Amino acid sequence: MPAASFDPAHTRIPPVSLNKERRTVNLIRLTARFGRSYAGEITAVIVLQLVTTLATLYLPDLNADIINNGVAQADVDYIWSVGRTMLLVALLQVAAAVAAMWFASRAAMRTGRDIRTAVYERVSSFDSEDMAHFGTATLITRATNDVQQVQMTFLLFLNFMVAAPIMAVGGIIMALRQDAGMSWLVVTAVIVLTVVVGIIAAVLMPLFKRMQAKLDNINGLLREQIAGIRVVRAFGREDYEAARFAEANQQITRLSLNIGRVFVTMFPVIMLILNLATAAVLWFGGHRVDQGLVEVGSLTAFMQYLMQILMAVMMGVFMLMMLPRAIVCADRVEEVLTHEAGRVAGGSAGAGGAPISKGSVRFADVSYTYPGAEQPVLERVSFEAHPGTTTAIIGATGAGKTTLVGLLPGLYSPSSGQVLIDATPVTAIPREDLVGAVAMVPQKPWLYSGTVASNLRMGKADATDKELWDALRIAQADFVDNLEMPISQGGTNVSGGQRQRLCIARMLVSDAKVYVFDDSFSALDALTEAKLNAAMRETVRDKTVIVVAQKVSSIQHADQILVMEAGRIVARGTHEELLASSETYREIVDSQAEVRA
Ligand SMILES: Nc1ncnc2c1ncn2[C@@H]1O[C@H](COP(=O)(O)OP(=O)(O)OP(=O)(O)O)[C@@H](O)[C@H]1O
Ligand SMILES: [Mg+2]
Repeated sequence: MPAASFDPAHTRIPPVSLNKERRTVNLIRLTARFGRSYAGEITAVIVLQLVTTLATLYLPDLNADIINNGVAQADVDYIWSVGRTMLLVALLQVAAAVAAMWFASRAAMRTGRDIRTAVYERVSSFDSEDMAHFGTATLITRATNDVQQVQMTFLLFLNFMVAAPIMAVGGIIMALRQDAGMSWLVVTAVIVLTVVVGIIAAVLMPLFKRMQAKLDNINGLLREQIAGIRVVRAFGREDYEAARFAEANQQITRLSLNIGRVFVTMFPVIMLILNLATAAVLWFGGHRVDQGLVEVGSLTAFMQYLMQILMAVMMGVFMLMMLPRAIVCADRVEEVLTHEAGRVAGGSAGAGGAPISKGSVRFADVSYTYPGAEQPVLERVSFEAHPGTTTAIIGATGAGKTTLVGLLPGLYSPSSGQVLIDATPVTAIPREDLVGAVAMVPQKPWLYSGTVASNLRMGKADATDKELWDALRIAQADFVDNLEMPISQGGTNVSGGQRQRLCIARMLVSDAKVYVFDDSFSALDALTEAKLNAAMRETVRDKTVIVVAQKVSSIQHADQILVMEAGRIVARGTHEELLASSETYREIVDSQAEVRA
């Protein structure tokens, strides 16, 4: 696949925010859509949790029975027999709980994995406009941290969804069965706990929301600083950048500490409420036992049920507390998944016309405006380029040359007009066919971490070693003495000129019909460039070659030269024709001749 060169960092448009109702729905929709594949596991969780909860609810009842009928009557046999039942129920409870947890974790983790895969696949189909729409940093956070949050919430939900409601309702029924006279105590404890935990949750929610934004922020900052580390060093900006990072880091630390502080107070407060409830049960219940209104065993059971009810309420509130953060995250993930990917990227196999056999290129009245920009970068550009010919594009920096050639491999699509290859609009060519037909040496040459061989084979997966060596020889990449030579991410362990030559070799390996060089000789000295051109002549004989160049010397033998100025083609022809007809071209030639003189 030809590498695309784009730098979305400088065209960042904040993602559109969705309206509120859609947001909550997103979390449900996302987990439902991806969790559906694990219906088997989820059913198991439901059944097993039902078993666990019923066992949990049954135990205090048995306990009360032992105390009331065994201990109180001093009936040791009775104690033993009910005790055995209790032991069995407890074992069953533990086994079912462990199994439920196991299935829940499996379902949640796999759902998370599937969401991550979906995000990854969607992002891979983005063209540079889509990338610019989101920005790289947030896409990384969304694919990792945000999915993680959704996954954790889903796990929590699976663990509590059956247990909490049944435990709360069942606990209330069982408690009242033991002693209806103290129902007011249950009501009071539930209300107090709900209110207190609710207040804590209300404090935490906005903090969680802010946390997500801060994570995006520090992620973006780190990316920029690591990618630009050389510039930072060259300009002695270490202190400034360090301060910027320290500030972002400090903000996250402060926020985390605030969240931590709330958590720290939360647990003692909850324990206090639980203990107060116990004390109240003992106090009021004690009097009732004294008065003969209730048996000791029932009081013990009542207390245990109250604890279970309060635990269930807590689980529920915890769940609610996780929700806001998960909703924000699910929303951000959905935004990526539902983002209408670029028109070109949407081209699917089977669509469009005949397969690309020749590689004739035609631009018909093509205009292009970057998203969010006011002025078009390309205006009504028309030209044709045929197999076996070389078309050169020359023009001042910022004239729109890179934008123009970027339309060919479908990095973005024309705002108006059409780009056609073999008379088929690029937008209608299936993605796989298009990347096979157009190979490009991007202006910012990019290599992937791996080896020379792994990078070259991107152009053609099944290329033989001989083909790779041939391409390297033609591209004048004589510094390579081993195909397994390691390449670091971005190709930072080779020089700019070496990187350019490796990218040229990568393009030569591919069987593409259209070869695009975007300013690919800029880092080559004149002698190397001449040797490269001579060596390439045979390889590109039947290709449609499009060369963007700054130096007239690189292009003067081209079959046609297009002179660009501010997004328009202002003159076209061969070197000689242009010398005679175009003032702009003469100026370019003169400016370069002067240097030589
Ligand atoms: N991603 C982008 N978003 C918005 N505007 C952009 C983007 N990329 C380029 N431009 C603008 O489009 C114009 C043309 O850029 P382009 O990269 O096509 O020029 P170029 O002719 O290749 O220049 P150079 O010779 O320096 O490579 C420039 O004015 C630039 O500011
Ligand atoms: Mg350019």
